[in-house]
Amino acid sequence: MRLEGRTAIITGGAGGIGFAYAQRFANEGARVAIADVDEAAGQAAAERLGAPGEGFFVQTDVSDPESVEACANAVAERYGSIDILVNNAALYGDWDMRDQSFEYLQRVFEVNQHGVWLMTRAVSSRMVEQRHGRIINQASGAAFNYASPPSPDGEFHGLSSFSYSQTKFGVVGLTKFSAAQLGRYGVTVNCIAPGVVDTEATRKTVPGNLLEQLGQDQPIPGVIQAEDLTGAAVFFASDEARYITGQILVVSGGRHMP
Ligand SMILES: NC(=O)c1ccc[n+]([C@@H]2O[C@H](COP(=O)([O-])OP(=O)(O)OC[C@H]3O[C@@H](n4cnc5c(N)ncnc54)[C@H](O)[C@@H]3O)[C@@H](O)[C@H]2O)c1
Repeated sequence: MRLEGRTAIITGGAGGIGFAYAQRFANEGARVAIADVDEAAGQAAAERLGAPGEGFFVQTDVSDPESVEACANAVAERYGSIDILVNNAALYGDWDMRDQSFEYLQRVFEVNQHGVWLMTRAVSSRMVEQRHGRIINQASGAAFNYASPPSPDGEFHGLSSFSYSQTKFGVVGLTKFSAAQLGRYGVTVNCIAPGVVDTEATRKTVPGNLLEQLGQDQPIPGVIQAEDLTGAAVFFASDEARYITGQILVVSGGRHMP
């Protein structure tokens, strides 16, 4: 019960890694609000969060400033405070690597990067006022993958995963800048950068048994599960981490050592 009495917002908590965070935070005694754009999955996820944490769903589009402010207000009204924010929502499972249009690049930035900024802005004044807060951003090992493998036919097919990696590198930067601004008010900002994780979203894009093969190439071989990330999140959210801020913790079996 390391988060007893704390309240948390988990963006993108309707499934996958976000739901694993929500479930673990609830098990640690936190009251958890799931903020996701997907209403059906978000409602179902909140219902699955049993005692001891009390879960509720707030439909939120992290790329929309009004929706984000409404989310923060709804959680503060229901729980009386916002102690923890996990910025996990992103275009990942529903991200289209082949779309190389500028409009789509802007959309990926709006969700993956500006969404983190908007959510941070929405909760930080409350956290500063209460002189306590924990913000945990979800980047990716992709932020540190500079060398992409060549395409099988050797031809140039656009910038491929560039948009996603760029936004996740941006999340690393946002973590450091916001950590520096908020530290003096008792608010820490840290970041988790997962490697390849076995979620439904990953299984949609990674063909066949490639996930298992990729896992074998890691210094610590194995297929990383969403639950394997939750200990890092609880640690950053806990009182034990009060002097830790602006840090990036990579959970990738040693695949990335930035
Ligand atoms: N699975 C992996 O291998 C992996 C690796 C590194 C980083 N990540 C990151 O972890 C996070 C979760 O990944 P996942 O595998 O669970 O993927 P996912 O696609 O299942 O999770 C993303 C969640 O964000 C929600 N979302 C999308 N757009 C939103 C918006 N505008 N507003 C609010 N919610 C929105 C989706 O509905 C979904 O529930 C993402 O940030 C992803 O980039 C995943």
